[in-house]
Amino acid sequence: MDLKRTQLLLLFFAFLCARVRKLNGDSIPRCIPIERNALLGFKEGLKDPSNRLSSWVGDDCCTWKGVACDNQTGHAVKLDLRNPHQLSYFYYFPNTWCLGGELRPSLLGLKYLNYLDLSMNNFGGIRIPEFMGSFRQLKYLNLSYANLGGPVPHQLGNLSSLQYLDLSHYYYYYYYYYGNIDNNPSGFLIIDNAIWISRLSPLRYLNMTEVQFREGAHWLQALNMLPSIVEVRLSDCGINTIPPSLPHVNFTSLSVLDLSWNSINSTIPGWLFNIRSLEYLDLHDNFINSTIPGWLFNISSLEYLDLSYNFFRGIIPPAIKNLSSLKALYLFGNRFLEGKIPVEFGELCKLQYLGLSYINISKNLHELDKVFTGCIKNSLETLCIRNTQLGDYLPDWLGDFKKLKHLDLCGNSISGPIPESLGRLSALQKLYLVDNKLNGTFPKSLGRLAELVELSLGGNFLKGVMSEEQFANFTKLKYLDLSQNQLILNLTSDWIPPFQLQELYIGFCKLGPRFPAWLRMQKTLPI
Ligand SMILES: *[C@@H]1O[C@H](CO)[C@@H](O)[C@H](O)[C@H]1NC(C)=O
Ligand SMILES: *[C@@H]1O[C@H](CO)[C@@H](O)[C@H](O)[C@H]1NC(C)=O
Ligand SMILES: *[C@@H]1O[C@H](CO)[C@@H](O)[C@H](O)[C@H]1NC(C)=O
Ligand SMILES: *[C@@H]1O[C@H](CO)[C@@H](O)[C@H](O)[C@H]1NC(C)=O
Ligand SMILES: *[C@@H]1O[C@H](CO)[C@@H](O)[C@H](O)[C@H]1NC(C)=O
Ligand SMILES: *[C@@H]1O[C@H](CO)[C@@H](O)[C@H](O)[C@H]1NC(C)=O
Ligand SMILES: *[C@@H]1O[C@H](CO)[C@@H](O)[C@H](O)[C@H]1NC(C)=O
Ligand SMILES: *[C@@H]1O[C@H](CO)[C@@H](O)[C@H](O)[C@H]1NC(C)=O
Ligand SMILES: *[C@@H]1O[C@H](CO)[C@@H](O)[C@H](O)[C@H]1NC(C)=O
Ligand SMILES: *[C@@H]1O[C@H](CO)[C@@H](O)[C@H](O)[C@H]1NC(C)=O
Ligand SMILES: *[C@@H]1O[C@H](CO)[C@@H](O)[C@H](O)[C@H]1NC(C)=O
Ligand SMILES: *[C@@H]1O[C@H](CO)[C@@H](O)[C@H](O)[C@H]1NC(C)=O
Repeated sequence: MDLKRTQLLLLFFAFLCARVRKLNGDSIPRCIPIERNALLGFKEGLKDPSNRLSSWVGDDCCTWKGVACDNQTGHAVKLDLRNPHQLSYFYYFPNTWCLGGELRPSLLGLKYLNYLDLSMNNFGGIRIPEFMGSFRQLKYLNLSYANLGGPVPHQLGNLSSLQYLDLSHYYYYYYYYYGNIDNNPSGFLIIDNAIWISRLSPLRYLNMTEVQFREGAHWLQALNMLPSIVEVRLSDCGINTIPPSLPHVNFTSLSVLDLSWNSINSTIPGWLFNIRSLEYLDLHDNFINSTIPGWLFNISSLEYLDLSYNFFRGIIPPAIKNLSSLKALYLFGNRFLEGKIPVEFGELCKLQYLGLSYINISKNLHELDKVFTGCIKNSLETLCIRNTQLGDYLPDWLGDFKKLKHLDLCGNSISGPIPESLGRLSALQKLYLVDNKLNGTFPKSLGRLAELVELSLGGNFLKGVMSEEQFANFTKLKYLDLSQNQLILNLTSDWIPPFQLQELYIGFCKLGPRFPAWLRMQKTLPI
């Protein structure tokens, strides 16, 4: 036998062995040639400036970066071309790792694909190709932040196995990047008629942040036909009403509904009441001009409720206490709410976040005495009551929030001293009391707050001397604002601060007499 024949024979045996190993069930995946060609054809259409696909050579396409094959059948089942480098600055600013170019239909050669991720790339505003709807096995499709634009093809409704669909977008970045919106009219993904979505019956997660739904797109009717839907994010989608009635509320598993940043000016629709699985409801930044309906608080599964920046009127209903699972409540910026903060807030024993800034209720902190002696004091981690015209002294009960990490009472008219009781907030990381009328000295007890990262007391009438010792425990401090007070910082010029600050505001404080050399040691300060 000559050498060539020996090689051939060897190859034949190798092939046999591979088959046998396959029969034994432990074979390594081998690429199917048709699928290899499909991938190469797809690659040909792409622009890949940073050579992310450099491994796409050779026979075994199953070992190519981003490709995964079924280890039983050898078919390519997963194509993950997500940009591994986080888009920076505006979060969505393209970087050199973005793929671009065309999306060629040769991809259809991957008949068994169940996972396709092209997110965080930059396809320059081209449309989602209609052939994307032809992957019968596809369970996961992620085209978010890929700079795809124009009408979303209704062919996507043919993806009869789809469970995850993410078309989120962040148009404004492209706007800043390319300038005038009119120059880039394809910038938005657009849905004129959403009915095709109703055909995606296994769908569980839908994210269409910033996809523009045209008037009369019937988005709700479409979603209501999805028996398995769990999460829906339609933030900033140009939606201006929520249909007030639904003949039959089908949602049995809906847990997350995000309709924030739309132009909704209708009331909160009554049918929400029938979604007994709802845990997360976000309606912030809309134009809802109605009272807060008491029945909303009968959805006892709610854990997260954000009604911020709307035009809600009337009082906060005392029935709020019925939301016994509530962990986060945001009512920021509802200028037309009236009355007081209901005592019933105190009975929300699981509440961790409470946001009441920029509303006009409760003028007096001591009106809240009864509220904050309830069990809420054992769970609360964040309390924001900024710019609400609160007056009076800081009450001692503030020191009772065992888990409080973030206290923000800026921009009120709070007077008197900072109470020593705040020194009991041993978990506190952020203390914001800017722009009030606080007087007295910096309380000694605050020196114990070793977890502090941000301390902001500017714009008050604080007096007295602050010594090096008082800063000794602030090893985690990154942000310090003591400006616009009458504080004297008695720090020797060779003081070695325990912290490395990123921002420092000490305007109007007395320093010196020599230049504080310790400032030079703040390497992370941009000075
Ligand atoms: C196939 O591969 C996956 C992950 O690579 C592994 O978890 C699974 O056990 C493998 N299945 C078989 C049958 O070898
Ligand atoms: C889709 O991709 C984006 C960006 O890569 C990611 O943040 C998001 O979680 C993905 N969506 C889903 C549903 O996995
Ligand atoms: C996909 O859906 C469209 C309608 O949205 C339909 O006309 C077309 O025949 C479907 N294609 C296949 C292959 O099923
Ligand atoms: C879209 O929403 C889904 C479900 O909530 C989530 O898993 C995904 O990360 C979101 N996508 C982006 C880009 O944030
Ligand atoms: C509820 O869902 C089923 C199938 O998912 C659908 O046939 C029915 O029309 C839906 N009902 C409404 C009122 O949309
Ligand atoms: C909601 O806004 C639309 C215009 O966007 C307007 O025609 C309609 O009257 C408004 N409805 C309410 C209840 O304010
Ligand atoms: C809210 O609606 C009421 C009654 O329709 C109207 O008088 C009021 O001006 C509206 N408020 C805002 C802020 O739109
Ligand atoms: C709050 O719950 C109680 C007891 O379940 C119930 O009687 C009451 O009607 C509820 N309040 C509202 C406004 O739903
Ligand atoms: C809230 O639910 C309770 C029982 O769960 C019921 O008695 C009450 O009428 C409901 N309140 C409203 C406003 O729907
Ligand atoms: C703080 O201000 C209050 C009035 O708001 C005043 O009664 C009190 O004497 C002041 N305390 C100090 C230490 O200046
Ligand atoms: C720093 O923390 C320790 C331990 O909690 C404490 O004994 C000490 O008094 C604190 N220093 C200041 C200035 O409060
Ligand atoms: C400043 O601190 C020094 C000790 O570090 C002390 O001797 C001096 O009295 C302090 N000055 C004031 C005004 O408190």
